[in-house]
This record gives sequence, structure tokens and C-alpha cells, in this order.
Amino acid sequence: MKTETKLRILSGIQPSGKLHLGNYFGMMRPALELQEQGDAYLFIANYHALTTVSDPAILRANSHDVALDFLACGLDPKRTVFFRQSDVPEVTELTWLLSVVTPMGLLERCHSYKDKVAKGIAASHALFSYPVLMAADILAVQSTTVPVGRDQKQHVEVTRDIAIKFNLQFGEVFRIPEPVIRDEVAVVPGLDGQKMSKSYSNTIEIFGSEKETRARCMRVVTDSKGLQDPKDPSTCNVFALYRLFASDVERQEMESRYRTGGYGYGDAKKKLFEILWAYFEPFRRRRKELEQDPGYVESVLRDGASRARAEARKTLDAARRAVGLE
Ligand code: ADP
Ligand code: TRP
Repeated sequence: MKTETKLRILSGIQPSGKLHLGNYFGMMRPALELQEQGDAYLFIANYHALTTVSDPAILRANSHDVALDFLACGLDPKRTVFFRQSDVPEVTELTWLLSVVTPMGLLERCHSYKDKVAKGIAASHALFSYPVLMAADILAVQSTTVPVGRDQKQHVEVTRDIAIKFNLQFGEVFRIPEPVIRDEVAVVPGLDGQKMSKSYSNTIEIFGSEKETRARCMRVVTDSKGLQDPKDPSTCNVFALYRLFASDVERQEMESRYRTGGYGYGDAKKKLFEILWAYFEPFRRRRKELEQDPGYVESVLRDGASRARAEARKTLDAARRAVGLE
């Protein structure tokens, strides 16, 4: 175990709703860029989604949508192992072996659990132990590199703590992974200026309809400065979203319009819609093609599962031997 030196990238996303700009810039794009630099693993975290999605039909439909979204956004199944978490059941057994070395205090400190309970999600054992399942996802394939948005950083740190503790106690089984968080997109703001999130109903979807996407762009919250007033781009949500798509020249041009005045938020919002709509145009086309070919999507996921399983099996066997099960 722990022998290879090549980068091994892994990230996952829960099929708990429609994917949005925060997901795209915070996790999907960084992960897709990294697929060029090493072995990449991306998966649909449907075991995790069970902590919040209780309708089986919705879970199934969301999982299928996430698969289409990733493939449409440029996931190359030849380079990247793409799979459903539940097709690699080895991670659930590994979760148990990791649980044995996970101190309660480590999980009690996790913000995500407290935030979710505060939002009214049932405080189940699964929700509480969710970071251990996430650690198993990461450690099962011996990942070195985990691209995520800032809200997931603590979970990767928990993973490191668990892996270090296991290795000390039972011998070197796991590689110790690093989170990769891009500062400029660590927190993409939503329509209300809070973190964009499926659970805050403040998102702009990657594959929303034209009408809805335009309407959402027009709803981004701004201050109340009038058309003629000079404006500060660095505190404006519309600008924060625009700059994710803009070239340097386009960004500088909008910055100078803001500072000069005579440029209204309504104009900036229209520009935001235009740039965003054009950016995702090729992805929408690709998604339409993929929708016609469900057999292809399923075959990608099946092939990914068998590749991920082979890796997870090796790690699980080493962990079982290390603790004395074999
Ligand atoms: P949501 O908050 O919408 O439920 P998830 O928790 O499923 O999103 O996040 C999936 C991935 O997308 C994670 O890596 C997360 O860090 C990233 N992500 C989600 N929202 C944002 C955001 N607003 N800015 C940056 N990254 C984000
Ligand atoms: N917990 C992550 C989220 O809500 C999803 C996830 C599950 C994940 N397992 C992972 C992300 C492993 C990175 C690595 O966004």
C-alpha cells in the first residue's frame, strides 16, 4: 500500500438537487482540470445523499441528472474513473474500520453536521458519521488530492486525522490526502450574497431554462445605488459572479464602468446572463445528445465502478489484514 507517487485526484458530489454555479466553479471545474494531471476519480455520492433525500424516485432521478451534468461539463471517462458511490460497497466496510479509530470529539466539532441540524435536517446517526464515510471514499482509492469548495475543507482534515491515527495504530495502510481549494472560487455567492447552496434556494443552475436563468440573474441582490452613482465592484454580488466567466479584458472593462458611474446594476445583470448563457451553450448541446443515449451513460458508470472497486478492494484487504480480521 501507499506505494505510487503519481497524483490521485478524487472528489464526489451528492445527488441532492440541481447542480449550480457554486458546484461548478468550486468543485467540478477544478476537478475536471486536474483530470489532466494524474489519475482522477469522480463519483456520485448517493450513500451520502440518503442522509437528506428520502424519496427513492427523487434520489434515482437526481443521480441520473448528476451523471449527465458531469459528462456534459467535460468529464472524460477515458481519463477519469466515474462511478456511483453505492456501486463500490467496499467503502461501507472501510467506514466501519475507520470508525474504530475515530474519536467522537472529532465528529462533534464538524460544522456541517451542526449547520444541517440547525436547518431542520433529522439528526440521524448517518448524518453525524457522514465524515467517516467521506474519509472511506477518499482513502479507499489512496487519493492524494481532493478538490472541493471551502465548506468541505474540514471533512478532508478529519480524513487526514483518521488516516494518520489508523496508520500509527495498525501500520501504514493509507496515503494522507490534501484538500485543493481555489481561493478565487472557494465560496461562490448566491442570489442573496450568502454562499450559493441548494439548501438556501439562492442558486443559478448550470442547466436551468433560459427564462429561469435570466430571471435569477436579474434577482441577484445589490445595494441601492442609482444609475449615475459610481459603484464598488469588489463588494457587488453581480460582479463577483460575472468575473467567474469574464476574460481579463472583460473584467477590467466592467470594473471601470462600475467605478465611473452611469452604469446600472440592471445592465450588469444583463451582461451576467449573456456571458453565463454563452459559456454553458456547448455543455447544453452535449447534454441533449447524452439524454438520447442512456445506455452510454450507464455503461460509463458501470465501467467506472469496476475500476474503482478494484482499487478499493486492495485497500480494504490491506486494512482488514492490518486490524487482524485476516
Ligand atoms: P450544496 O451546498 O449546494 O448542497 P454540496 O454540498 O453538494 O453543495 O457541494 C458539492 C461541492 O460543490 C463541494 O465540493 C462544495 O464545496 C462545492 N460547492 C458548493 N457550493 C459552493 C459555493 N457556493 N462555492 C464554492 N464551492 C461550492
Ligand atoms: N461531502 C461532499 C459534499 O457534500 C461530497 C463527498 C462525499 C465528497 N464524499 C466525498 C467530496 C469525498 C470529496 C471527497 O459536497
